[in-house]
Amino acid sequence: MESFEGKIAVVTGGGSGIGRGIATALAGAGAHVVIADIDGEAAKASAEELGGLGVRSLSVVTDVRETASVDALAAATRAEFGGVDLLINNAGVYLGGEMRDVTEDDWRFVLDVNLDGVFRVGQTFARILREQGRGGHVVNTASVGGFISFGAGLAYTASKAGVVAYSEAMRGDLEPEGIGVSTLCPGAIDTNLPASDRLRREGEKTGGSSEALSPFIRGGMKPEEVGPIVLRGIRANLPYIFTDDGMRELFAQRFETILAGFDQIAPAR
Ligand SMILES: NC(=O)c1ccc[n+]([C@@H]2O[C@H](COP(=O)([O-])OP(=O)(O)OC[C@H]3O[C@@H](n4cnc5c(N)ncnc54)[C@H](O)[C@@H]3O)[C@@H](O)[C@H]2O)c1
Repeated sequence: MESFEGKIAVVTGGGSGIGRGIATALAGAGAHVVIADIDGEAAKASAEELGGLGVRSLSVVTDVRETASVDALAAATRAEFGGVDLLINNAGVYLGGEMRDVTEDDWRFVLDVNLDGVFRVGQTFARILREQGRGGHVVNTASVGGFISFGAGLAYTASKAGVVAYSEAMRGDLEPEGIGVSTLCPGAIDTNLPASDRLRREGEKTGGSSEALSPFIRGGMKPEEVGPIVLRGIRANLPYIFTDDGMRELFAQRFETILAGFDQIAPAR
């Protein structure tokens, strides 16, 4: 996608952090934006701010854990704008804690938002993009944690590894239709992610906390800085969009370890 002027973009998790940063950059480049977020107040504030940039915007209260809510988002987008060109599939939550303490409730909460949610939204909007037959682009937000497991935050890294796999498959599937797909792998970004615990359902058992993320992202890159990086990545149809170079060595070590496994295959007799 060369230009964002007049394009219609849907941003899940657009009420805060990285989603809001990307939405602002898109609006600045002339795109009309639908902000979808479970936090209605945040979605409304974000959409109103974009309206001030001279583009059209809409906020839709959306829970990516619910198929009906995702369907309603698609219907509201079509009703207001007639179609869609760009999906920023970004809503997510974090949960820290030691592997041994992860409960089934923890696993379900994180996987349901971060992976199943990306699947629900991705499948719904990919179908629309295909039907329209006018190309487009999808950005699925994973994380460097989708490649590098830090031990703590197991459900989170598992969910993000799943997003990488989903996004890679989607890129292959949509390429013949002229629809680009990028996997966004941010490093540390200073957002509200450590407040994800507020979105837990009542009565769930937990062995971790979202707040555990705070020390790792406070002082990190600002979400406003991520927006322009993502726009460059979309223009170039990059398969992976990274936000900083600090993790390069850890990636190299991981892939060297994997490749070394092949060196150990015993010769066939
Ligand atoms: N902050 C980082 O360091 C970092 C690093 C790598 C990846 N990420 C990923 O970036 C994405 C955005 O996170 P962020 O850091 O901007 O955090 P954030 O908390 O500031 O923003 C996430 C938004 O998603 C919304 N959300 C959560 N659950 C939802 C649901 N069920 N339905 C709809 N909306 C929901 C929240 O209300 C919030 O507005 C997430 O997928 C996160 O995993 C963040």
